[in-house]
Amino acid sequence: MSSYFHYRGSQLYVEQVPLADIAAQFDTPCYVYSRAALTDGLRQFTEALRGHEHLICYAVKANSNLAILNIFARLGAGFDIVSGGELQRVLAAGGDARKVVFSGVGKSVAEIRMALDAGILCFNVESAAELDRLNKVAESMGKIAPASLRVNPDVDAKTHPYISTGLKQNKFGVAYDEAIALYRRARDMPHLRITGIDCHIGSQLTETSPFIAAAEKILALVDTLADEGIHLEHIDLGGGVGICYRNETPPEIADYVAALLGTLRGRSEKLILEPGRVLTGNAGVLLTRVEYLKHGEEKNFAIVDAAMNDLVRPALYDAFHEILPVAQEPSHKSNPSNGRGGERENLSSIYEIVGPICETGDFIGHARDLAITPQALLAVLSAGAYGMSMSSNYNTRPRAAEVIVDGIAMHLVRERETVSQLYAGEKIIL
Ligand code: LLP
Repeated sequence: MSSYFHYRGSQLYVEQVPLADIAAQFDTPCYVYSRAALTDGLRQFTEALRGHEHLICYAVKANSNLAILNIFARLGAGFDIVSGGELQRVLAAGGDARKVVFSGVGKSVAEIRMALDAGILCFNVESAAELDRLNKVAESMGKIAPASLRVNPDVDAKTHPYISTGLKQNKFGVAYDEAIALYRRARDMPHLRITGIDCHIGSQLTETSPFIAAAEKILALVDTLADEGIHLEHIDLGGGVGICYRNETPPEIADYVAALLGTLRGRSEKLILEPGRVLTGNAGVLLTRVEYLKHGEEKNFAIVDAAMNDLVRPALYDAFHEILPVAQEPSHKSNPSNGRGGERENLSSIYEIVGPICETGDFIGHARDLAITPQALLAVLSAGAYGMSMSSNYNTRPRAAEVIVDGIAMHLVRERETVSQLYAGEKIIL
């Protein structure tokens, strides 16, 4: 648990605010973020990179709330986007288009146009066909498009297969062995300007070695390109640093950055990184209330008001999120590291924490030892990345509210959706 979420007595707080106060004011389910936690990660990157020209491009997909983008923009961050929609969010949040890199395998003509109009820093091109399209769209607009090739280094990120992206069998990037030929082709395209090289090998990596292996392979290409007279302005080594959800031991940001800088061995190209999860993941929790306790024949269920539409990671990846009571029962002190009670007592039971959605896969956590009563509030930890941004309206459930806490202040940064908003664009036919 991030130190910005902590117990004071029996009450779970975010910074100086009891989570119970947030539930009372904004209702549940509700995502709650700590501003200090959000800024802390970015500060660590900036400090670790001091002395080397760099740009931290926050991966917007991890959490795209405008307030969060604005906080990062004001701290000087750039952004890694994967859609025209994310670009519009960045601009609406006051982000600087000249600090935006555009990743993704399926950029449409309209999205490329929008990004060229906005004047982004660079397109991370993922295929030969995209290179052709980029050149053509730029030509039609009388512009020169800044381009970098996303190269697939064929490195095993040792993470969940759904979020591993740097292997030959993945759909991402251009094949390592074809990269040089594609750079030559790009050099000859009149409406492209080659600015860099890029890779991203996966997400929630808990070891440094795959990052180093990927960097070494990318840097070997940079040298070959230089021999051909193709000089790059930046090297983008993607995102992917993991966080601790349970008992993982990911590298500290400073150590990860130091390892990457070590591979650069005094090169002068600007280093771009695209962290997402590590900046927001442990800066947010999902606050939910127990609706019912149901004691089944084989299992006990705590049915809560958050569901897979609010937080899909458990259902989709079998991901583990720590779940803590917002008010600890007097004789039951939860141990955040494993969810098991320190001093077991009668009130506690082993619960399946499930949502109201009509799917067996609708669970937030399995077999959690909790001392809870109906109406109790629970905090689902490490939910700040890929929580709200992956939420949906399944079962016509309006999406949750989002609140940022800053010291003693709470700010509603996204109102709870209403049902009428959900069907506003629908029509009945005669
Ligand atoms: N850059 C690119 C090109 C990416 O595709 C991603 C994430 C990132 C940067 C940021 O990676 P991060 O630093 O957050 O690991 N929904 C999954 C994670 C999918 C990640 C997709 N790409 C989850 O909930 O675990």
